[in-house]
Amino acid sequence: MTARDCLVIAHRGASSYAPENTFAAFDLALNMGARHLELDVQMSRDGHLVVIHDDLVDRTSNGSGAVAGHTLAQLQSLDAGAWFDAKFAGERIPAFTALLDRYRGRAHLHVEIKGKTTGLSERTADLIRARDWSGNVTMTSFQKDKLEALRAHAPELPAGWLLRDIDDGTISEARRLGITQLCPRADSVTLELVARLRDAGFNVRAWGVSNEEQMRRMVDAGVDGMTVNFPDKLIAYL
Ligand code: G3P
Ligand code: CA
Repeated sequence: MTARDCLVIAHRGASSYAPENTFAAFDLALNMGARHLELDVQMSRDGHLVVIHDDLVDRTSNGSGAVAGHTLAQLQSLDAGAWFDAKFAGERIPAFTALLDRYRGRAHLHVEIKGKTTGLSERTADLIRARDWSGNVTMTSFQKDKLEALRAHAPELPAGWLLRDIDDGTISEARRLGITQLCPRADSVTLELVARLRDAGFNVRAWGVSNEEQMRRMVDAGVDGMTVNFPDKLIAYL
């Protein structure tokens, strides 16, 4: 593998420059030349999937309270851009279905099952299938139970496990679940770890890359891809 093979995955869109998990951030990432978009899904009170990272709307909108305590209409009435910069006022929390429709044929999605709601994995997979996105997604989660539910319900969708620490136990558990990608945190990544995971048959994708020095270190370690908030810088480096 050469450095050029390293996948550039825009983390919550180009989230260094635009409000995370909004169309503005995803559009900008595509305009910068990224073709892989990472996003987080949660479920609204009335069972719709929305693209937002936190369990609460407080940090990334002008609202307050739990995502799961709002209906889709309530969530979409919030401003999800002005907290970042006044020029993004009016950005909305995207419905997952609207995002699938907007980026059809233009991106590969790394969909993180972020919410804790029962049935979230299955509902996400069903929408991906219904909109014919199955060949262009990688499903991820930190939550093993959500990955287990996903693998049982939609074994055709490739899955990555986001991990803070990787040991022999997690490697064998990942194998048991049929997970093909392991996602170590950037500050745990070494050449040796990448070689070990690759020898064990996994694709290796780093997360938590917080600066350009770390970004370069991931490339040198030979990861298959990484999420970055600044896709333009990784594209330029590669
Ligand atoms: O790339 C995965 C990364 O998104 C995981 O962390 O907290 O940003 O969802 P977080
Ligand atoms: Ca995420």
